[in-house]
Amino acid sequence: MSRRLLPLLTTRRAAVTCEYRCGDACFHEAPNTSANPYFGDIVGEVISRRGALRAGAVVALSGGALAATNGLATPGAAARPSAHPPKPAPGTDFTRVTPNLLDEVVVPEGYEQAVVIRWGDPVLPGAPEFDFDDQTATAQERQFGFNCDFAAILPLDPLGLTGLLVTNHEYTSEKYMFRGYDPDNPTEEQVRIAWAAHGLSVVMIARPMHSGRYTPRMSWFNRRITLTTPFRMTGPAAGSDLLKTPADPTGTHVLGTMNNCAGGVTPWGTILSGEENFNQYYANADAVTDPVRRARLARYGVRGGATTRKWERFDPRWDVARHPNEANRFGWVVEIDPHDPHSTPVKHTALGRFKHECANVRVTPDGRVVAYSGDDERFEYIYKFVSDRRMKRGHGRAARRHNMTLLDSGTLYVARLTGDSPAAEIDGSGRLPSDGEFDGTGEWIPLVSGDTSFVDGMTAEEVYVFTREAADKVGATKMDRPEDIEPHPRTGRVYCALTNNTQRGPGGRAMADEANPRHENRHGQVLEFEEERGDALALRFTWRLLLVCGDPASPDTYFAGFPKDQVSPISSPDNVAFDRHGNLWISTDSGEVLGINDGLYVVPLEGRSRGHLKLFLTVPRGAEACGPVIGDKVVTVCVQHPGELDGASADDPASHWPDGGDTPPRPSVVAVWKPGRWGLADIGS
Ligand code: FEO
Ligand code: CA
Ligand code: CA
Repeated sequence: MSRRLLPLLTTRRAAVTCEYRCGDACFHEAPNTSANPYFGDIVGEVISRRGALRAGAVVALSGGALAATNGLATPGAAARPSAHPPKPAPGTDFTRVTPNLLDEVVVPEGYEQAVVIRWGDPVLPGAPEFDFDDQTATAQERQFGFNCDFAAILPLDPLGLTGLLVTNHEYTSEKYMFRGYDPDNPTEEQVRIAWAAHGLSVVMIARPMHSGRYTPRMSWFNRRITLTTPFRMTGPAAGSDLLKTPADPTGTHVLGTMNNCAGGVTPWGTILSGEENFNQYYANADAVTDPVRRARLARYGVRGGATTRKWERFDPRWDVARHPNEANRFGWVVEIDPHDPHSTPVKHTALGRFKHECANVRVTPDGRVVAYSGDDERFEYIYKFVSDRRMKRGHGRAARRHNMTLLDSGTLYVARLTGDSPAAEIDGSGRLPSDGEFDGTGEWIPLVSGDTSFVDGMTAEEVYVFTREAADKVGATKMDRPEDIEPHPRTGRVYCALTNNTQRGPGGRAMADEANPRHENRHGQVLEFEEERGDALALRFTWRLLLVCGDPASPDTYFAGFPKDQVSPISSPDNVAFDRHGNLWISTDSGEVLGINDGLYVVPLEGRSRGHLKLFLTVPRGAEACGPVIGDKVVTVCVQHPGELDGASADDPASHWPDGGDTPPRPSVVAVWKPGRWGLADIGS
């Protein structure tokens, strides 16, 4: 395999990734311009540009009461000696991978790996074999889409030898998909290929009894969902005037889903998928003259003239000056039923509209469901939704049909977090406060329930469609890019990856606070919180930072108090998952700011090993590790945008993974397993 000479150290994500994935979000001002005075902000504020008056008010409001109500146990707070490292926690007994810059997937010694499926592999009957130099939209509609982010495997048999692999195809990187690509003049066929390469794939996979070598199968279940697949809008904003367009005067039907980032598996066997950076696909916001419309577009980052991909030349719906409501039909959580390839997927308006990273569900003892979701942009918010109706048990069609309505009626909340340490101790450096932890309390602020708005000056429909604006008004806490958020299946504690935020601090939109304690935060943190009394319906919670990421040698990092000389470096936590032991697995996006490839990590959450972060695998240079599925015997991980480095292109690829030789890189799903231990131990033992 020929290898490109790689730089030894870089300090930022490739600009081309920003261009294609987020529409250069980092190069624009963050869309949240709200003053939004919230207590956590003030408590953490030392170099305040807003004055001492507000800070004084906070001291009076918080005092020592917050610390007294903080019921979250502190298993990792105290520094522990490093001389006698504990035995590896169950599920983490492997030799950690050394951070690297290789153009390959690197797994621990003794483990095996294989590609499950790659961009362009056949999904539907009649799909041609992938031909990089002769790709067509017709072929792409039947093949595995481009960049793969979230993945889930729904078992089809008790041993997990067969299953449905469901994968998000987050975005297209045309420069790497087409030789000789002219970004100023894409062809219609290239644009239609891109529409077909977005969305999701459902593919049956199968593996032998004693191997993790999954291979795709043609099956009745297989399905491609693209940017032209019909979706139904459901929930209280369905049919709203804000969702009506010339193509859909009812405001209830929309073609396609896009920029699907992370997601979740529901207890009733369906898939939730978050529509994230939808703003970048809409052209000509500059030509919108109505000031309210313009402001609302800007709040979601819809701005400028022509788009990067120029889709507006081939379908006017991508032109917000001509179709102002079309952008309101994206930015939702979608739900699909992989068990029924003929079902119409839905967009749940009750969960609000923002740059949904994901949605993950927990069921309460009385059968109601609680969905957590993050809005992945700098200074955006964390949300939860509580259903009115109760889940029906069982996986039959009738139960699933009922359960697919659960996310259509309920109450949407946004989070406000308050630190418990004195403001003077949260100085933006990442130095731990004197109580030894970044921690505090929080509350869920109701935004809307059914037709009832709790936000002054906004109707319920407006709250659903312009949820960011509603959250601004109620004083939610501006977070450092809330990505994946998921409740622990056993403890119910919720874990949220806050990926980074280089704009926090002086000159930015907010100063450090205890939950977001670093200025120019390049490496992110992982938040752990626990609902009051462990009740997901509660309106209050306690929280702490589990990890403050970066180079362990750096004083601004924190690994739940675990000795830092024994942990792996990590930057930009993105997706989270759990294994059957209760360990947290974290995949990263932007390891390159530490000069290392992205990877998949595991960290125990309990006992003496809490915080003992270990690197399990790394992905090829320029790639992002996404969508981990942690099975007992097999781990799968999505490798999206391999070789996405500045200066590279389809004509001069920076990676030849996974096929080697001179082949272009292909986003793929990879399986990792430990041979020879079947029936004896699980993946991490
Ligand atoms: Fe698509 Fe939030 O990463
Ligand atoms: Ca504290
Ligand atoms: Ca993500």
